Amino acid sequence: MKQLMEAKHLRLAVLASGRGSNFDAICEAIDKKVLDAEISVLISDNPNAPALQKAAARGIEALHINPREFAGRDDYEAVLVRELRARNADLVILAGYMRLVGKVFLSAFENRVLNIHPALLPSFQGLHAQQQALDYGVRISGCTVHIVDEGMDTGPIILQKEVPVYDTDNEETLSERILLEEHQIYQQALQLIAEGRVWIEGRRVFIQKQSGEA
Ligand code: GRF
Repeated sequence: MKQLMEAKHLRLAVLASGRGSNFDAICEAIDKKVLDAEISVLISDNPNAPALQKAAARGIEALHINPREFAGRDDYEAVLVRELRARNADLVILAGYMRLVGKVFLSAFENRVLNIHPALLPSFQGLHAQQQALDYGVRISGCTVHIVDEGMDTGPIILQKEVPVYDTDNEETLSERILLEEHQIYQQALQLIAEGRVWIEGRRVFIQKQSGEA
């Protein structure tokens, strides 16, 4: 079994393509000192991502890197890696980042890229996970924090939280209810890593109990 990271104050880098509410929730957890971390940079592939403005408003460096300016994914990711290394990022947090991450990126940050997904994986991978859950008719959906591998939403699971699905739900109402839990479990997973309590063996992730914890 391998420790994901020794206990430390985390230097995070965030990749986001859109709204940035998970980014905001992580910033608030840091401000409230429930998460022992700092965010060194937010990078977006989308020049119009509200997340860029949110980062700038918080005084966090906000960078747009346009994937279309590169010959292919490997070249784009090589630049991402260079920028993240230049800022000594311990962990890369995907927060609504709408691209698959490839070999170049993952080999530079093995087991150090995290994602949040709005369903209980391995159910409902990919886009519109909340609508997929409604269409399937599950009574319980939720969200998952996982380590990123080359697949789409397939990496080892760190934390999950269930959310009930109501008869009256539509994609919007279910998404809102799941989002509230996303904001909680992402920061919780990060704090567990900051405390050095996350261990991994194969696909299985183990959370070390605190002394006195049952
Ligand atoms: C969240 O629902 C997250 O689970 C998914 O994309 C959405 C991003 O929302 N991966 P936000 O940009 O963090 O508000």
